Amino acid sequence: MSGRAAVLAGLGGWLPPTRITNDDLARQLDTTDEWITTRTGIRQRFVVPPGLSTSDVAIEAGARALASAGTDSVGLLVLATSTPDHPCPATAPEVAGRLGLGEIPAFDVAAVCTGFVYALATASSMIRAGIADSALVIGADTFSTILDPGDRTTRAIFGDGAGAMVLRAGSLWERGALLGFDLASDGSQADLITVPGGGSEYRSKGLAAPGDEFFTMQGRSVFRNAVTRMSESSRRLAKQLDWPLESIDRLVAHQANIRILTAVGNELGLPEEKLVVNLDRVGNTVAASIPLALADAVHTGSIAPGHRLLLCGFGGGLTWGAAALEFPEVSVEPLPGSPAPAESTYTK
Ligand code: COA
Repeated sequence: MSGRAAVLAGLGGWLPPTRITNDDLARQLDTTDEWITTRTGIRQRFVVPPGLSTSDVAIEAGARALASAGTDSVGLLVLATSTPDHPCPATAPEVAGRLGLGEIPAFDVAAVCTGFVYALATASSMIRAGIADSALVIGADTFSTILDPGDRTTRAIFGDGAGAMVLRAGSLWERGALLGFDLASDGSQADLITVPGGGSEYRSKGLAAPGDEFFTMQGRSVFRNAVTRMSESSRRLAKQLDWPLESIDRLVAHQANIRILTAVGNELGLPEEKLVVNLDRVGNTVAASIPLALADAVHTGSIAPGHRLLLCGFGGGLTWGAAALEFPEVSVEPLPGSPAPAESTYTK
């Protein structure tokens, strides 16, 4: 096998300006800060104000990742999102155009909360195959635009945002190289996480009904699957790379629920300080979740150069997967509202 690899060269994230605390939600819905905090670990989330959509948040994160990499050009853009600006065309070409990246290949990948891992694997494979020499990989979602305003469960969990990485061609043996992936899906459980309407199936069958454009989720089954699938994927990838589980320095798992993260940590025998957590500040940001958690942890100093990282995701489809790398020298701008490194509760 050739030693060519995709290497992490830049990292950035962005959160929209409208902050919604648990108390704000409790003023609108039959819920409490205590319920949301104890059941999910989430204390606040950010949502787009009227007028902003997924392309806007994707561009902000993409621009910050390009600045972090010290470049203004890449050969490929892959956007992970399940809330594209339009059902057709993909949002990625517009993002590439507005970022001034020229006529590069640009397309969307839809794997809900696993989207970033799938997009990373796609871009990494294209770099390894010589189809591109560099890539901007963005995970961006604005789930606030597809939630039922009266649904206390989903509104407590989801927030909007975007995270991005710049990859460049390099060698498998240098720090920052994407070392391997584990990807999987199970379509038999597609109905656990779904937006039932708005697609070809409902149109073709004439099933359209009021409210079918809203996101729905079967929380308990999703919870169980998330724990099992993220654990098994992480385990499989660690085995493939010959990484003893105890050699993993940080697990950057999809930020769904603090109880899910703790359960995955327990399954893998990883102590709490190895689990990256920022869901208390941002909620579940879907495809943006993993790069935003990574960016926050790098900013606070919880992740440092040389750390062995396992990124793992789980989401609708069902889909799940993991990616591995040793963190290189990459700096990142703080996300809005990020704690200063010394104040962070996550700096270990
Ligand atoms: N405030 C108050 N009560 C709420 C609530 C809220 N925000 N959301 C749900 N409830 C209620 C439910 O209606 C239910 O009431 P009932 O017993 O009268 O029917 C009760 O709390 C318990 O619901 P349940 O679903 O059993 O609670 P849970 O402990 O499983 O927690 C989730 C619910 C959604 C937080 C949890 O299942 C979860 O996190 N699942 C995974 C979700 C996820 O990560 N999705 C994205 C994955 S990619």
